Amino acid sequence: MIKKIEVKEIKKYTPQMAAAVEYHMELLMPGARRRGTQERFKNLLKNPNAILLGAFDEHDALLGIVTLYKIETLGRKTVLFEECVVDSRFRDMGVGQALTRAAIDYVVKRPELGDRIEGTVNEKHIPAWNCYMKGGMHDRHNKAFFWVRVWD
Ligand SMILES: CC(C)(COP(=O)(O)OP(=O)(O)OC[C@H]1O[C@@H](n2cnc3c(N)ncnc32)[C@H](O)[C@@H]1OP(=O)(O)O)[C@@H](O)C(=O)NCCC(=O)NCCS
Repeated sequence: MIKKIEVKEIKKYTPQMAAAVEYHMELLMPGARRRGTQERFKNLLKNPNAILLGAFDEHDALLGIVTLYKIETLGRKTVLFEECVVDSRFRDMGVGQALTRAAIDYVVKRPELGDRIEGTVNEKHIPAWNCYMKGGMHDRHNKAFFWVRVWD
């Protein structure tokens, strides 16, 4: 049972964190380890456009992650919500919703990132859809997209 879920930005490389991130990415994308997730993790931490959020338990163990990516086009700034994955031992306990809420909050608190956070989900992926909707994302298009405006 999880006693506490705290979502924090992961900013620093440590071998332990790299292994924990790799474990999560392997669950999301089997074969990720072989494709060099730890190197990608290192690169992501150096990338000023990428933000990695981690959900931690009361012992500071990683429960889940989500990557946010800043996008700036000619017309607008938006933040992409990508690769949300929760440790399979701790699913259906609200970790994904905590990550979703924290991601929205991250963007709301930083108007310089734009007024939108968006992502895509397969319409058949009910747990993910429920997680994002209950976490505060709103379906404004159809079931293949979700996004929320951070101000109206
Ligand atoms: C999608 C994912 C991130 C959700 O994380 P999570 O921590 O399990 O999500 P939460 O517990 O916060 O919320 C899930 C909700 O869906 C519900 N749910 C789960 N399975 C369900 C099902 N088969 N049918 C209906 N609802 C379901 C849960 O009950 C929960 O709602 P509740 O809080 O009202 O009980 C997690 O399942 C995961 O890592 N999946 C594998 C990776 C993945 O597919 N990522 C998404 C890429 S788009």
